Amino acid sequence: MYRTTSCHSLRAESVGQTVTLAGWVNTKRDQGGVIFVDLRDREGMTQIVFRSEDGQAGLEASHKLRAEDVIQVTGTVAARLPGTENAKLATGAIELIASELKVLNKAEVPPFPLDDPKVNEDLRMEYRYLDLRTAHMQRNLKLRHRVVKATRDFLDEGGFLEIETPILSNPTPEGARDFLVPSRLNPGTFYALPQAPQQYKQLLQVAGLEKYFQIARCFRDEDLRADRQPEFTQIDIEASFVGEQDIQTLVEGLLTRIFKESVGVDIPTPFPRMPYSEAMTRFGSDKPDTRFGLELTELTDVFASSAFKVFASVASGGGTIKAINAKGAAALLSKEQLKKWEEWVKVECGAKGLAYVKWTVGGEWESPIVKFFSDAEKAALAERMDFQAGDVLFFGADAKLEPVCEVLGRVRMRCAELLGLIKANADKLNFLWVVDFPLLAFSPEDNHWVAVHHPFTRPKTEDVPAMEAGDYAKVRAVAYDVVLNGVELGGGSIRIHERDLQAKLFEVLGVNAEQQQVKFGHILKAFSFGAPPHGGLALGLDRLVMLIAGADSIRDVIAFPKNNRGCDLMTQSPVDVDFKLLREVYIQSTAKKS
Ligand code: AMO
Ligand code: AMP
Repeated sequence: MYRTTSCHSLRAESVGQTVTLAGWVNTKRDQGGVIFVDLRDREGMTQIVFRSEDGQAGLEASHKLRAEDVIQVTGTVAARLPGTENAKLATGAIELIASELKVLNKAEVPPFPLDDPKVNEDLRMEYRYLDLRTAHMQRNLKLRHRVVKATRDFLDEGGFLEIETPILSNPTPEGARDFLVPSRLNPGTFYALPQAPQQYKQLLQVAGLEKYFQIARCFRDEDLRADRQPEFTQIDIEASFVGEQDIQTLVEGLLTRIFKESVGVDIPTPFPRMPYSEAMTRFGSDKPDTRFGLELTELTDVFASSAFKVFASVASGGGTIKAINAKGAAALLSKEQLKKWEEWVKVECGAKGLAYVKWTVGGEWESPIVKFFSDAEKAALAERMDFQAGDVLFFGADAKLEPVCEVLGRVRMRCAELLGLIKANADKLNFLWVVDFPLLAFSPEDNHWVAVHHPFTRPKTEDVPAMEAGDYAKVRAVAYDVVLNGVELGGGSIRIHERDLQAKLFEVLGVNAEQQQVKFGHILKAFSFGAPPHGGLALGLDRLVMLIAGADSIRDVIAFPKNNRGCDLMTQSPVDVDFKLLREVYIQSTAKKS
């Protein structure tokens, strides 16, 4: 036996016991005749004392110890001298007076101090196994385990079966690119890694399994961000004979259990519901952060006959003008900074501009366009926007509503950051269901309609006539996203279970009858054998744990994540493969690493 207890377990009551601990040297302080070592294992830390009177051999060996050496120590638990207790440590009342020391393995000097938060992320990722030794990464991985355990317990108690679905599968459209895997046994053909187990979980409903879940690994080849990884994990759920309320109530129950069991927090349910159209017009986002106001205000009517031509032409042409009031931002935004924001809006958000009016603390209205405003327009702004000295108004104007909302939604988040509203509200947990999404969106690049969620999502019954009439923009979906503090935690929908309706939707999406057979023949066929009404949802496990942990990136809650270029710096993957290997799977070698 390597140890009799953990480095976290000893307390004042343990004084006098003889124990053996094993772990890593966290720190060593050499004070001449006495050496103090903080010994660390997964559970915690214990102070070890090596003194000459307690064993000369141990003291000598302990002189040579270095951080991260792996050791085994036997000794007697003693109370620390009064005044030397460490209140920050669970074991801070005691120390272990060592009588025996065994070095199980020596460690090289680590390439970075493990507890230094400023170390460059690339270096941490290259030595991820060392990075994972840090207290905060251990805490995050333990938290992730607790979340998964609570999920399994809750869904098991609710009669859900955990069923695995294939990783080598067919493409399933979730809006990203597929990762492809060549099949050696079937020359020239490819599997796709699942973007989500969407079709399989629906087929399990056709199969009569009724309540399914899976802690499912998903793969999407898309541009990466702080909350996006090429492989990530979903808590994937599907059930038969359910409506959207059933799924929403189930997910509220699941999240309640997760928060209670992982961090002891009670979350209030039911979560508020907000239609997609309201989320867009009020917050400029389909995943609004409702912890603060800064809402978008309609101003189109104010500028109907403005002398500022940009606004007047948008207003008279049936477009939209909206604005937000960044209260108190005047002192934080110089003219140069406002210029930079304007540039950012044009380059990053594809907007035509970002008109602004700054009401300086000194009482001036500063703006390149205010000279065009009439007194009536100014009065309307002051009144409708609650515009006061110290505030900055930002305007969006466009022939279409959505781009105005989206751009101002991003400006809103930037203002929130600038004004410290996100930090100030860090403790809030604002859950929200965004509902009544549009079923379809027109994609100018593809020149046809695409599914907003995915092509298996059910149109609202009352909107089916609009779909049949070809009025696609009007068709809403029975789809819902669960949002927490401005992050899309999960999304789901009630599905189409009728063969003909599914075929009709494929047709609207530009998939002709022949392609339907090739790509989706299996699911269409399945629907003709008695498919029950069904629906579900998937939560992003990584995002959920990130938010519970208060981490900035999902990389902090994944043991071995990829960086923003999709690379694992520890294993150097992806790597070149041998020409011979490629030939075996019938691929010609053309790719070369840059
Ligand atoms: P959706 O595509 O909305 O729905 O995905 C569900 C949730 O998965 C998380 N997520 C991601 N997390 C990390 N990295 C990524 N690249 C990534 N992409 C998505 C998000 C998201 O809300 N099959 C449907 C679900 C359903 O209809 O039941 C689906 O996958 O938190
Ligand atoms: P211009 O008349 O193009 O020089 O623009 C005057 C101001 O209005 C600038 O601050 C632009 O950024 C802004 N602006 C121009 N077009 C728009 C628009 N469509 N929405 C919001 N602001 C705009």
